[in-house]
Amino acid sequence: MPPAPKAHTEDPERLVSAARAEDENSFELKLRPRRLQEFIGQTKAKEQLAIALEAAKSRGEALDHVLLSGPPGLGKTTLATIIANELDVGFQQTSGPALQIQGDLTAILTNLRERQVLFLDEIHRLQPVLEEKLYTALEDYKLDIIIGQGPAARTHVMEIRPFTFVAATTRPGLLSSPLRSRFGILLRLEFYTDDDLRFIVSRSAEVMSIEIDQDGAAEIAMRSRGTPRIANRLLRRVRDFAQVRASGRIDRQTACDALKMLEVDAHGFDELDRRLLLTIIEKYDGGPVGLGTLAATLAEEQDALEEVYEPFLIQIGFLDRTPRGRVATRLAYEHFNLPPPRKQPGLF
Ligand SMILES: Nc1ncnc2c1ncn2[C@@H]1O[C@H](COP(=O)(O)OP(=O)(O)O)[C@@H](O)[C@H]1O
Ligand SMILES: [Mg+2]
Repeated sequence: MPPAPKAHTEDPERLVSAARAEDENSFELKLRPRRLQEFIGQTKAKEQLAIALEAAKSRGEALDHVLLSGPPGLGKTTLATIIANELDVGFQQTSGPALQIQGDLTAILTNLRERQVLFLDEIHRLQPVLEEKLYTALEDYKLDIIIGQGPAARTHVMEIRPFTFVAATTRPGLLSSPLRSRFGILLRLEFYTDDDLRFIVSRSAEVMSIEIDQDGAAEIAMRSRGTPRIANRLLRRVRDFAQVRASGRIDRQTACDALKMLEVDAHGFDELDRRLLLTIIEKYDGGPVGLGTLAATLAEEQDALEEVYEPFLIQIGFLDRTPRGRVATRLAYEHFNLPPPRKQPGLF
C-alpha cells in the first residue's frame, strides 16, 4: 500500500504549488500589477481584453463575462482584479469550493452593485446545482427563487443588477458546455517567456527594493517554469541568501549559488518534478503509465499532478500524454544523463 497522498498543494513553502491560501500572502499582493499596462506578457489575452474593456466603457455597459484559464500562478486572479480596476467598479471574490449552499450564492448575486465584478475562482469545482442557478443570472440577470415547500411552493423571479462575472480555472476541460457558452470573453493564459519573466523579476525587485542586475534576473527567470508566481518566490529566497551570504546584491553568481542551495535546477524542477520523471523512467521503463498508477506510486494527488506539474513538463517537451498513459521523452532521459530505452523506438 502506498502512503496516503499528501495535500501538498496547500503548502505555501513548496515552490511549485497551486494558489489557494497564498493569495492572502501580503508579498504577492504587493507585487500584483493593478493596471493592464503593468501586466507583463500574454499579449494575445491582453489585446483581446483591452478592446473589450474599451468597448464596454464607451457603451457604459457591464463588460461581458470573462473566463480565465491556465495553470496556477500565471496571473488569473491578477487579471480579474485588473478588470475591476480598469472598469473602476467594485470587486468581490469567492470560489467554487467556498460556495456550498444555494443561499450563499443567492445572497451574493442579489447584493451585487451595478456593473461590478464578481470573481469566482476554481469554477470547475462549483457544485452542479449552483452552476445551474448561475445560468439565468449570467444570461438575463435574473434569479429563480423557490419559496415554500411541497404543493404550495412558488417560484419567484428576482432581478439582479447587470454585473460582470469573471471566472478562473486551471481545468477548462472540466467545464460543461452550457456553462462555457455563458462567457463572451475566453482568455487562455500561456506560460511566460524567459524575457517576460526577467522583466517581472526586475519589476518585483524594484517594488521590494532589492538590488539585482540583468544577469541575476535572467538566471531566476530561466528557472521559474514560465510562471510569475514562482519567479517572485525564487526572487525572495535568493534575496535572503544574498543578504546572508553575499553583499545583498544579486548578480548571476549569487543567483546560481542560491538556486543551487535551494536545489532548483536549470529547468526550475523541484523534487517532485524529478521524482515524477524518474519514476516513469525507472519504475515504468519510460511509460506509458496511467495517471492514477503514477499518482499512487508517488503518493501524490492526481489533481495536483495534472493541474500543477504536468502542464509545464509537457510544455518543455519532457513528458507526453498519450491515450495509454504518460511517457517520459528523450529530453527527460538526457536531462538525467540516462540512455533512452531501446524497447519503444516508435515513441521518440
Ligand atoms: N503578467 C504579470 N506581470 C507581472 N506579475 C505577474 C503577472 N502575472 C502574475 N504575476 C504575479 O504572479 C503572482 C501570481 O499571480 P495570480 O494572479 O495569483 O495567478 P493565478 O491566479 O493564475 O494562480 C501575482 O501575485 C503577481 O505578482
Ligand atoms: Mg488565483
